[in-house]
Amino acid sequence: MKNLVDRFNRIHDYLRISLTDKCNLNCIYCNPKTLQRSSLHQNELLSFEELIELIIIFLQSFGVKKIRFTGGEPLARKDVLQFFEKVSRLKNDNNFEIGLTTNGTLLEENLEILKQFRFDKLNISLDSLNREKFAAITGSDSLHSVLRSIEKALHLGFSSLKLNAVIIKNINDSEILDFVDFVKDKDINIRFIEFMPFTNNAWSKDGFISSSEIRNVIEQKYLLRKLEIKLSLVSKDYELVGYKGKVSFISSISDHFCDSCNRLRITAKGKMKLCLFSTSESELDFRKIFSEGSFGRDEKLKRSEIEEKIVRAMELKNEKHPEIESIVQMDQNEMIGIGG
Ligand code: 5AD
Repeated sequence: MKNLVDRFNRIHDYLRISLTDKCNLNCIYCNPKTLQRSSLHQNELLSFEELIELIIIFLQSFGVKKIRFTGGEPLARKDVLQFFEKVSRLKNDNNFEIGLTTNGTLLEENLEILKQFRFDKLNISLDSLNREKFAAITGSDSLHSVLRSIEKALHLGFSSLKLNAVIIKNINDSEILDFVDFVKDKDINIRFIEFMPFTNNAWSKDGFISSSEIRNVIEQKYLLRKLEIKLSLVSKDYELVGYKGKVSFISSISDHFCDSCNRLRITAKGKMKLCLFSTSESELDFRKIFSEGSFGRDEKLKRSEIEEKIVRAMELKNEKHPEIESIVQMDQNEMIGIGG
């Protein structure tokens, strides 16, 4: 076993896998309805068998400690529960955490089974607590089902439940305190995420609010105290003094956290992505490797060939993501297939 270390001595032990670019919502910051894009066909995705092979390599050859499934909406992929069951069986012999990032609309009916599969970490997107506004942001009148999922997850004892709110000026910035009010008495970590530019997501400087501006709003009503134990490598975490809930800020734009990056991603199309904002040269194409490999039926050869390619790709990881001005210009970086 060797760690995946890049040229800047960062150990990569966290793998995020986008299972599909399909989503039943059309959030304005991710996949605006105006786009009318069609999602990938089943045969353009990595199959579940291929994903399991890759996961085993990342766990056993490279000591990955955490795997998070994202999308699109991961629960929207057909037969995903059968796949999750296989992943959960890997927990018997490997020490790793399983996370799921979901919009929460298809979650309620699946929570018991996810608990049974020993999912450790649930992150649920929640960008408004107001029914009309939720519908305007997501294109779907489904706030209630998300709220029911949150209640049920708490009830079932999912700990370290995280809610993600992307704050956009004149869209949901008036709700910053409402979000904090909502979590203050719950065992929930609300995370305010800076709006990031992705291809076609209508990002503009005018809509951007920095973490420090959001924090100022919260501090008008609440006392925030920095948490000693970090909740994640990417967030700045605070205790709400006198309350149960926790508040975090993810400042991808105003204060990037590239120095401590430990993440690798596999996109819905099966490309390895070294950075959320990396360009195509650094992407390893796992579908191509599986279809064209010289390994034939030789499992050992296949595994060592894939391992070698991953190690070599790691060397291409840049020290930092590009400046915001060039990220805005990127035209091949749609969030929906990467999964945040
Ligand atoms: N900016 C910031 N975060 C985003 N996400 C998706 N698109 C963006 C964006 N443009 C994150 C949100 C969402 C998760 C699925 O991905 O946190 O909850």
